[in-house]
Formats: sequence, C-alpha cells, structure tokens
Amino acid sequence: MTVTELREKYLDFFIEKGHAILPSASLLPENDPTTLFTGSGMQPMIPYLLGEKHPQGARLADSQKCFRSQDIEEVGDNRHTTFFEMLGNWSLGDYFKEEQIPWVFEFLTEVVGLDPGRIYVSIFRGQEEANIPRDEDSAKLWQEVFAGAGIKARVIDEAEKKGMQNGRIFYYDETKNWWSRSGVTKNMPVGEPGGPDSEIFWDFGEELEIHEKSSFKNKPCHINCDCGRFIEIGNSVFMQYKKTEDSFEPLPQNNVDFGGGLERMVMASLDVPDIFMIDVFKPIIAKVEKEIGKSYVDCGEKTKKEIRIIADHVRAATMIMADDRGVGPSNVDQGYLVRRLIRRACLAGRRLGNEREYYLQPIAASVIDFYKEDAKLTDFYSNVGEKSNFILEEIRKEEAKFGKALKKGLREFDKFAFSTEPLDKYGRIGKSWNQGILYGDSAFYFYQTYGFPKEIMQELCEEKKVKFDEEGFAEELEKHQALSRSASTDKFKGGLADADEQTTKLHTATHLLQAALRQVLGDHVQQKGSNITTERLRFDFSHDEKVTPEQIAATEKLVNGWITAGLKVECEELPYEEAKKRDVIGLFEDKYGNKVKVYTISDISGELCGGPHVKNTKELGKFKIKKEQSSGAGVRRVKAVLE
Ligand code: ALA
Repeated sequence: MTVTELREKYLDFFIEKGHAILPSASLLPENDPTTLFTGSGMQPMIPYLLGEKHPQGARLADSQKCFRSQDIEEVGDNRHTTFFEMLGNWSLGDYFKEEQIPWVFEFLTEVVGLDPGRIYVSIFRGQEEANIPRDEDSAKLWQEVFAGAGIKARVIDEAEKKGMQNGRIFYYDETKNWWSRSGVTKNMPVGEPGGPDSEIFWDFGEELEIHEKSSFKNKPCHINCDCGRFIEIGNSVFMQYKKTEDSFEPLPQNNVDFGGGLERMVMASLDVPDIFMIDVFKPIIAKVEKEIGKSYVDCGEKTKKEIRIIADHVRAATMIMADDRGVGPSNVDQGYLVRRLIRRACLAGRRLGNEREYYLQPIAASVIDFYKEDAKLTDFYSNVGEKSNFILEEIRKEEAKFGKALKKGLREFDKFAFSTEPLDKYGRIGKSWNQGILYGDSAFYFYQTYGFPKEIMQELCEEKKVKFDEEGFAEELEKHQALSRSASTDKFKGGLADADEQTTKLHTATHLLQAALRQVLGDHVQQKGSNITTERLRFDFSHDEKVTPEQIAATEKLVNGWITAGLKVECEELPYEEAKKRDVIGLFEDKYGNKVKVYTISDISGELCGGPHVKNTKELGKFKIKKEQSSGAGVRRVKAVLE
C-alpha cells in the first residue's frame, strides 16, 4: 500500500462510522503560545476535548501533518522521522472504548489487511498516587476482538522485566501508557487533559533476529523494547481526566483521541522493517544515492544512518516551509528548526564525502515532486507545489550560508584552537589548548560565535589527536539554554490554565480591535493575519497608510468603551450558507466544513471563528496598542496588550 492509498482508506473507513473529516491543521499552530509545531493530531482539538462544542459534531477524523523536534536525534534508526502524518479519529463525548477498540482492529486487519497474529497491544497498569485505576475494561475488550480473529490473547504484566511470556496484551506503567501533551501525570500543568491509552504494535517477526542483533540483546525483548522488532503503529487515548492542583478530576465528557502514524502503518502493511523503504522515501533515497554514488540497500549501517538523516531532514524542512504559515530558515522559533534540519543534513552529506555546495536542492526537489503527485489525487499537499520556488531558493541560500560559516569557522578554529601560543592572549578563550584538550568553554565559543557545529569540532579533534571536552561543552550549552529559558518562563508561571485564559482574552480583544479599526479607518480593513501569545496579540490588516496616533487613540477608546460596557459574547452554530448571508466577517473558506461557528459581540462584531472566547467583554481589562508598523505592501500590523 502507498501512503496516499492508506490515508484515503482510513478516512473512508471513519466516514462510514459517522465521522466528519477535517482538513489537516497548519504544521505551525496558530494562537498557541505553548508550542512551536503541531506534534500530534489532538493539538488543534484541545478546546473540544475540554468540553467546547465542535461545529462539525462529536465524531471527527483527519490526517494531521506533524513535526516532532524532540525526535531529531533519534533519526537514523529504522523507524523515527521528525515529520510524519498522524491519522486521527476523535469521539468528543460520544463513543468510547467499546467502539474504539474493535474499530481500530477492524481497520487494521480487514481494511489494511494486517495479520492479526502479528498485532500486539499495551494497556494502562494504573497509577495509585493519582488515583487512576488499572484499565481492565480495555484488557477485556482486546481479548474479545482477538478471540473474534481466532486468537486466544493472554494478558501479561511486567513484560519489561520478564519479556513476552506468550502474551498478547501487556500492562505498562504511565511512562508508556498514559498520554498528555506534557507526558506523565506529575508533569502535567493544572488544566491539562490526559488519560490512559492503549497502543498497538506490529511485530516484524522473531525470525529476523532484530533483537539479537541490537544493542538490547542482553535484556528480554517485549513490545516496548527499543530494538526495532516491534513498532507502534497506533494509539487510542481515553481522554477522560483533567489535572487539578493536587490530583485529577474527570473531564465533562469521556473522549477518544486516536493517533496512528501513516508512514508506519504503510511499513507494517508492506512488512518491511525500515520506514525509509516505503513509497514516500523511495524517490528521495534514490536522489541521495545518485548524489553520493552508493546504494542504500547494500551500504553498511553507518552510511544508512547518514542517508536516513538527509532524507528525513530535507523532507521535514520542505514541509515546514511549504505550510500555509510556513517559514524559511532563521535564528528564531520555527525558522531555527528549519535551519537546524538543513544544516544537519548538510553535515550528514559531508560525512558521506560530499563537498558540493548545492547538494540538498535536488533532494528537496524530489520531495516536492512526490507530494505534487499526491496532490493530484487528494487535496492534502497542494501548497508544496505552489511554494516550490520559495523552498528551493531557501534551501540553496541556507546551504551557501552554512558553507561560508563553516569556512570561516574552520579558519578561526585553526587560528585559535590549533595555535601553539597560549590562547588567552586573545582574551577570548578561557583555557589553553596545549594541554591536549579542547575545553568546553572554548568549543562553545566557536559554536556560539561562528555557528560552528559540534560534530565538526569533534572530527577535527580526532584528526589532531586531541580530546574533545564533551562534558564541559554540554555544561556550557545547558547554561546558555537555562538563560534563554528563564527569559520565557515568566510567560507560563501560572501553568497552562492561566496561559489559556490569557490567550482567550486576547482572542476576544482581537475581535474588538478589528471592529474598532473598521469604524475608525473604514470597511476596507480586513484581517490578514493574527498571532497571539500569552503576552500580546498581533493583528495584520489591509490598510494603505500609516495609522496616525490620533486614529490609534480613537481605536483604543472604542475598544475600552466596549470593555467597560460589559457586552455579552455570544456563539451560534449555523449552516455555512446561512452564515454567508449574514453581515459576518471572517475567512469564508470551505475548510471549516458545512457548519460554522459565529461569535457576535452585541451589534459591534460578528465573526466567523472557532473560538474560544470570554463570556463577557468586562473580563478583558484595559486594552492598549503598543506598536503600529508596516507588514508588507498594503498591510499594517499592530501589537496590543491587555493590562
Ligand atoms: N495523542 C495521541 C498521540 O499523539 C494519540 O499519540
């Protein structure tokens, strides 16, 4: 099966089970100050899992583009990628375990055609301190579905210590079978939803001796072993709890949040224990093979790892740039990740012997070509083709920049690090090189000042038979990260609940701002972009001239007047056609589906919007515009706060 086929089959299956299909949300989340990328299908669903009504109903499914930067170092093995598509289905207080478990099983065995004898599952052991019970319901339901496929499924505990024990269904603790955006129960901020989960694994088979050939060979193998014999292909989260100050309370409804890796399911359907052998990666790998003159299948493990890094990173960087809200490489936020991906891919290429400057560009072109084909059959990746010039140009520029930085870094590094003079004469590097070691603070200096990668310093040290102070470097890095973290922790002092409350307020303030701007400047004012953090709102709108200080004062006065008036914020769900007829502003794209939500604030504002919003404008506080500037031709940008 191909990714395009499997994705379509999945969505069709859930349409049949009464689900509405949603388009993938942006890879770069809007109005979510807590995270840079969408890393799971449920992220855009948070308000609805917490109880807000979704305009498309209580049964939803999609295929969500995801990026997990935390997996960047894992790439290189047979199953990790930073970018992937997550197939998702949700019940928002509708069906629960009794439906979910048989349905995923039916999909995997009857639609995808997986052999039920090679499917294994995990369930939650329970967590006494948090007062969450052992998930015996799921154990029973899994036994029933396996029995239906003629398999007597044994329920086993302690597989992590005792191995498989001829089991099929395995209890694990919360490090494996509890899901929330922030991980285990004790890490969850107040207000965060979470729940026990049940993961599904595919077994590539004992006979391949994957475990025996791995570095885990001295420990018993089990479905959560990292050797690569088993891969997780899906996870049903029973999202039913919300973190309180000292424990948990039930959510207003029992939800299901399922996520399954599309590429991994394809891998299982083909029964190849290497994700880089499935159709999306084929043309990419072929391009890399051509560039380096080596065959992927026949090369050794070390070369394979480098090829995988290049293929994954170029694909991920392409996807972040192709997104609706995509960005090119830079030094901040998402742009920094794009830079890191491209540079890491360059380095992997370098390790494979490539010294050419424009080397990743043709590889990115093969990623674009693949998704252009996909877009002919589905409406998932139309933006990849549309943005291809931008993507290729950014990759070219970044490769050139990195090439230059490397050259410069090498020069400086040679000058200082390999100097026979004591280094402190330059007053820049703390300790002497002559002791046969490159100290962490010196290494960090090159890293920080020239963007000189650690890997290269390590290589150079090896060449010169000098020790690289790994620990010292890690310490410096940690110090540096702690500094930049303390700059942002203030934002989240109150945990997620406060952060949510603050962004909700700013969201409502954005509606008032737009209404005020239309009154002060005219009806030509239209939203061109919006971004909200816990501190401020940012609003881009169409307008040809600078907004004068008088106009800003008038806008603030209007907004503050509405806040003081204590106006009710009301929400209505309407068929799309009907909303269109009303005097409502907003982006009328059918991507919202046939039913839409309209938020009105007295007779001042009516906007098509997913919410959430405050109930009454008096909750907002004092509104103040902090900055007005240009944001491109015919577009102005204001930043404003609530004090
Ligand atoms: N939210 C769950 C996950 O990402 C399904 O694994």
